[in-house]
Amino acid sequence: MIVVTGAASGIGKATREHLERDGKRVIGIDLRDAEIVADLGSVADRQAAVAAVVRLSRSGLDGVVACAGVGPQTPSMATIVSVNYFGAQMILEALRPQLARGHKSAAVAVASNSATLPGTDVALAQACLTGDEDGARALAASLAGPQVYATSKLALARWVRRNAHSADWAGVGIRLNAVAPGAVQTPLLQAGLEDPLLGPAIRNFPIPLGGFGAPQNVAAAIAFLMSDAAEFCCGSVLFVDGGTDAMLRPDSF
Ligand code: NAI
Repeated sequence: MIVVTGAASGIGKATREHLERDGKRVIGIDLRDAEIVADLGSVADRQAAVAAVVRLSRSGLDGVVACAGVGPQTPSMATIVSVNYFGAQMILEALRPQLARGHKSAAVAVASNSATLPGTDVALAQACLTGDEDGARALAASLAGPQVYATSKLALARWVRRNAHSADWAGVGIRLNAVAPGAVQTPLLQAGLEDPLLGPAIRNFPIPLGGFGAPQNVAAAIAFLMSDAAEFCCGSVLFVDGGTDAMLRPDSF
């Protein structure tokens, strides 16, 4: 049994479909059209969602995919931070005991290749990584959407790398990894394309393989990281971006 947040649309929906084709049972968490309807930007809803998952998975979980997220065009900066970082990190952490009871369990966080672009905010990343949600929301209010978005994803990828190798995760056999998608044709990207400021920037973003990715491209990478075929992957951040990160940062390795 695998939990997928953001399962109602885009990459989360494609992930759900991929996992179900592979014979897995999926519990979706989303604002709508999901087994568990919850707003992952809200602390109370996160707790309620975790309690609902525990009720549905008495013998443990085999996986969690933290995919729910909002784009840089979202009007509320605090919402970007609360959903993209805290909504993902808290669900992963709170479901860790259920994963520990599962069979060869794994978790994947959906970050973004925007995390490696210049302009991420050190203080905001630090507030996220120290668990200071109120502080992060306050800091985000003075920044621009793309900066908050990229920083929320940078913090999420760093949280994965800081924790994947720890006694709590690798130490009990739970593999924790991340994917970093580039521009993928989903309603989230479409909203960005329709934004007068963001649209031209997204269109000018270099993609060596040409064109935007499909949600199924990222779903396949997530399904790989969740599978036994990835049994030696731990703390990996898998870029699925048509070559953008390699092109922009060839030597940052
Ligand atoms: P999408 O908009 O198609 O799907 C996002 C899903 O998350 C929706 O079903 C939405 O209802 C859900 N969601 C949003 N806020 C929520 C909340 N407060 N509580 C519960 N669920 C909530 O977007 P897409 O593109 O599939 O995004 C999935 C993930 O991939 C996000 O984390 C996004 O940041 C990330 N990503 C997307 C890229 C793209 O170009 N589409 C690029 C890099 C990362």
